[in-house]
Amino acid sequence: MEDCQKGVTPVDIRTLAGPPTTFLGHRYLLNEDTPENLLAVAREFGDLVPLHFGNRRIQRLHRLAALVTHPDDIARIFADKTITKPYSLSISKGQFGFGTQAVGLESDAARETDQTRSALDYHHLPGYFETMLSRTESLLSTWKNGDTYEMGRELMRLALEIVGETLFSSDLTDDADTVNEALIVVMETFNKRRNYLFLVPEEFPTITNWRLRFARKRLRNIVVRILRERKASGSTKRDLVGLLLMAARQNGQSLEQTCDQAMTYFLAGHETTALTLCWALIFLAQHPEIEADLHTEIETLLGEGPLTHAALRQFKFAESIISETLRLRPPIWAMARITTQEVELRGYTIPPKTLLLLSQFVTQRDPHWFVDPETFNPYRWNKEFRKQLPRFAYFPFGGGERGCIGRNFAMMEALTLLVIIARKYKLQLVPGENVGRIASLTLRPKKLLMTVNKRSVVASLGT
Ligand code: HEM
Repeated sequence: MEDCQKGVTPVDIRTLAGPPTTFLGHRYLLNEDTPENLLAVAREFGDLVPLHFGNRRIQRLHRLAALVTHPDDIARIFADKTITKPYSLSISKGQFGFGTQAVGLESDAARETDQTRSALDYHHLPGYFETMLSRTESLLSTWKNGDTYEMGRELMRLALEIVGETLFSSDLTDDADTVNEALIVVMETFNKRRNYLFLVPEEFPTITNWRLRFARKRLRNIVVRILRERKASGSTKRDLVGLLLMAARQNGQSLEQTCDQAMTYFLAGHETTALTLCWALIFLAQHPEIEADLHTEIETLLGEGPLTHAALRQFKFAESIISETLRLRPPIWAMARITTQEVELRGYTIPPKTLLLLSQFVTQRDPHWFVDPETFNPYRWNKEFRKQLPRFAYFPFGGGERGCIGRNFAMMEALTLLVIIARKYKLQLVPGENVGRIASLTLRPKKLLMTVNKRSVVASLGT
């Protein structure tokens, strides 16, 4: 991007070059290849690109947007309190519902008090480690050597069970299939609606709308059940549910609002971590030399002993594998923000109500910060590299006030699961099966069939 010179009057962002427009502006970029489309746009037009979705003559259908990919600008956006996180742009209402806005969660209602956030504080994490360990062990004990599993489903179930036990003190094992099916409906609906010109209001009795409403209801019912059971039990346990209910009592919140908050944790807390692990296992299966180095680290650090929370911190290479996975396959691959006032970025003015698109998928592939950006290279994540990397050249967990509050929980979980699985099993992709990927609200493998082979070296080991 050409920087405006100092002292020169700022110029409207719409004067910057962008991709060719059609009758519907740049809506053609929104399809199953949106991440790659945005990457191509950034590579051709620079790190600040005006886009518009809809027809300029028909005001109601037109929305100005800007793709912002430079780390300094992303930092500026996260720091600016006049730029907000859109919650009305859920899949029920528009084209851009990313991440936690996935199922029409009203994010503002879902903002947690400091009190409830404390359930994810650093000092609680060691307590959650044992659950992560034992739930993973139980899953592995059901795997039969040489058998093939749909790994997406296996890991989604595991991550849900872990969130259920650690944050909700509930056994969600029997709910895993319901949650998985409902989330798939939500993602499919999002993909369908992404390309519609005239969105059919959600109240209309179409099959798609009915499926979406039913899926949401199924998710909500699970959360309502947990909240009701806890209320009825009279328990004063201070886990996440306990803290949410306590805050609700103090602030006079309705069950509906508390349900929104609980849903955010329930959904944001399991799918993203499960996807991180799916992609990490795919990369390992594709890179046996990297997998061998991971095995060496595991054997060196653990020998025949058990994995402990203290030992986990020493797994620097395993951590690099997770970091590199989150770089190339960020589960939340793009986020939206809205300007409420005119904003100036690098000498260009951006009007109020502009949709700012920040994409982890795009920025984390910028060759300025990542040499050979398309290559899966966990070795790049050494101390010096981490130190010189600009703050928001890498932001899989978002940033600013509304960044991910489960980051430490997620990193600990991903690392624990990776080490335990890799210690016991070598996972292979089924030859001829294409993993593919779906860029919906999250970045998912299409189908992930993997064969599990017990590693002979650990046949006699415990965790
Ligand atoms: C690898 C796993 C994860 C990734 C990549 C991830 C990523 C993100 C990102 C990018 C955001 C910001 C979205 C935005 O600003 O539009 C976010 C928000 C959030 N995440 Fe995570 N997340 C992960 C795991 C978790 C876990 C385990 C939890 C809870 C246990 C969690 C809870 C939340 C919540 C509650 C928010 C909303 C914060 C707010 O709106 O104020 N996340 N996450």
